[in-house]
Amino acid sequence: MEFDFTQLPAADRYRLLTNFVGPRPIALVTTRSANGQGNAAPMSFFNVFAHEPPIVIIGFSARPDGSEKDTLVNLRRSGEFCVNMVDLELSEAMILCGVNFASDVDETEFSGLATSPCRQIDARFVTRTPCAMECRVERIIDYPRRAIVLGEVVEMTVRDDCMDAQGRYVDPGVYQPLARLHADNYIVADRQFELKKPEAMTRHEVGQSAATPGPARSTKDIR
Ligand SMILES: Cc1cc2nc3c(=O)[nH]c(=O)nc-3n(C[C@H](O)[C@H](O)[C@H](O)COP(=O)(O)O)c2cc1C
Repeated sequence: MEFDFTQLPAADRYRLLTNFVGPRPIALVTTRSANGQGNAAPMSFFNVFAHEPPIVIIGFSARPDGSEKDTLVNLRRSGEFCVNMVDLELSEAMILCGVNFASDVDETEFSGLATSPCRQIDARFVTRTPCAMECRVERIIDYPRRAIVLGEVVEMTVRDDCMDAQGRYVDPGVYQPLARLHADNYIVADRQFELKKPEAMTRHEVGQSAATPGPARSTKDIR
């Protein structure tokens, strides 16, 4: 099967892209409105794209009537938002937060999610989230009825039981993020395994030293 994306209607592109690009991690994004109202919405057009600077990216679409979602309105105004990672425990509440409520509804209250004040930004984070990332808007790329938001992470709050005692690595038995597949299908990262580059391959690697770039080799040599 072949699909010419330059000819396809947007709904078909959406279906195909979200069928195959997955699982996509879910950011439950919390913000605050101009009148102090809290807001929460799940976003699966989301990921981390750099660590220096630490940048997360979220893709927003408009509501069917063309209006902007509350999350986008709020973060445009405040320049701040918090990404709450979602696990199975938070899944039912996350789905409720995805209902297109009017802007005077705080989805965390509606769904019974306890929240705590963020440390560096004016928003609240979900108290039971495995990991909350407080972000400042780095830039917004606008398209018709769409926007891509780049946020710089300024603070991370991790639920203690998710990490080893040194605070270095997650405990994969505890932190099992929920991710979205196609349509209403989700998956939990509960079957993890290690995959390492074979030691013998290290001699083929280029550019591993900051001082002296390694010799260029063709992929033919490596096979
Ligand atoms: C799992 C999940 C992922 C979603 N991902 C996105 C997304 O990436 N971008 C988007 O614009 N809407 C996404 N939505 C829809 C919004 O969450 C929904 O429109 C929400 O009501 C917006 O709330 P707000 O108006 O308070 O911002 C998603 C919904 C669910 C349930």
